[in-house]
Amino acid sequence: MGVRQDSLPLMEAEETTADPELFDKIVNLSKRRGFVFQSADIYGGFRSTYDYGPLGVLLLRNVKDQWWRSMVQMRHDVVGLDASILSPPAVWEASGHLANFTDPLVDCKECRARHREDKLDDPDTCPSCGAKGAFTEARQFNLMFKTQAGPVEGSGAEVYLRPETAQGMFINFANVLNTSRKKPPFGIAQIGKSFRNEITPGNFVFRTREFEQMEMEFFVPPEDSPEWYRYWCEQRRNWYLDLGISEDQLRLREHESDEMSHYAAATSDVEFLFPWGWDELEGIANRTDFDLKCHAEASGARLEFHDPNSGERYVPHVIEPAAGATRTMMAFLMAAYHEEEVNGDTRTVLRLDHRLAPYQVAVLPLSKKPELIEPSQEVLNLVQPHWMCDYDQTQAIGRRYRRQDEVGTPFCVTIDFDTLDDQAVTVRERDSMEQERVPIAGLVAYLESKMSK
Ligand code: GAP
Repeated sequence: MGVRQDSLPLMEAEETTADPELFDKIVNLSKRRGFVFQSADIYGGFRSTYDYGPLGVLLLRNVKDQWWRSMVQMRHDVVGLDASILSPPAVWEASGHLANFTDPLVDCKECRARHREDKLDDPDTCPSCGAKGAFTEARQFNLMFKTQAGPVEGSGAEVYLRPETAQGMFINFANVLNTSRKKPPFGIAQIGKSFRNEITPGNFVFRTREFEQMEMEFFVPPEDSPEWYRYWCEQRRNWYLDLGISEDQLRLREHESDEMSHYAAATSDVEFLFPWGWDELEGIANRTDFDLKCHAEASGARLEFHDPNSGERYVPHVIEPAAGATRTMMAFLMAAYHEEEVNGDTRTVLRLDHRLAPYQVAVLPLSKKPELIEPSQEVLNLVQPHWMCDYDQTQAIGRRYRRQDEVGTPFCVTIDFDTLDDQAVTVRERDSMEQERVPIAGLVAYLESKMSK
């Protein structure tokens, strides 16, 4: 906490090189095609908060669904939770956040700009105005948002917006243990919004004040924690690779002992090669018994596991894979973005895995003529229960294919005048651009076989 895991100095790419132009391309595409909008845009924008548009909401949902599928649905040893965002100061006092969840803040006496001291390239020079030696002494700035519950103002009504989802899992440990028939090793997973009053938000949705996390606390017998730590590092790395990030854009970096939180026995970051260099997508930490012990001591609750067969009692250790959903969504967009020459034109294509793509299928009548609209609607009705579909009947078909390429739709289904005779459609595959004639009766089975993962 004191030294936060995403506040590490950036490390330069070693073998592969970052692409600085990619950043602007992704920001432009996001706005132009409805992935991400600046929040309160019509009022001049509200810095560091973003709204997810029609395509962004689908992509973000798919990222979260894939995480949930691999972390909860496909396992017998992890259960879910959706804890509250508002919580009383007692939680944050016990967790250490009230005292330690801080960043060092400096003010420039010349231009009054505020900066995070640990993020300055030169600790003596203001990046806003260039003044030298003009910073105030650093002071610790707590990143939690405070508000009040109920109509009364004052210290009794103070509550906090959670800065991480993790504490919800620790304070519900006994509730889950008593109701789920699980015993260590087992995990509690949660996806939800977190809030941090970041001093220097930036890099689009990479660091924002409101964001979504996907965290899991895995409770294990203390002696097994090193093995489970290695297991979860490997599992989490593979999750990104399986969903389409290539090996040369992803790495697992183990923290040096001076980078780690004081309670952690080991920490690794999953890092992605962003346009500005390697940076964190997820931290995997062996948090030992720190959190359960803190909350047990502060609340008086017994937060331990009692094995009724052996009579053994112990406080489990915790392995925590903690990822950012919004940050990860941006990484998937960046990894998928490609430009290529096709017949003298530049084709922009998002090679998103079909499990992440906002739309899996686009249904496109070749023309707006009424005789094509009815069969197109029928094809849409056939496919829609299985996949998220777009339907678009305007513009030349080539331009419509390009629009779908640019938002990552893996399959376009075109209904043409031959369809009226042969009851078949043309299916165009995004990456190869190959086209195949498929009978309507076999269309769902055909697409299912192509998207079998
Ligand atoms: N419970 C541990 C924890 O919260 P963290 O490294 O501070 O650890 C986990 O956060 C993940 O949450 C980060 O790896 C990052 O992906 C995401 N995250 C953290 N702060 C963020 C911010 N301000 N904006 C967007 N994502 C953020």
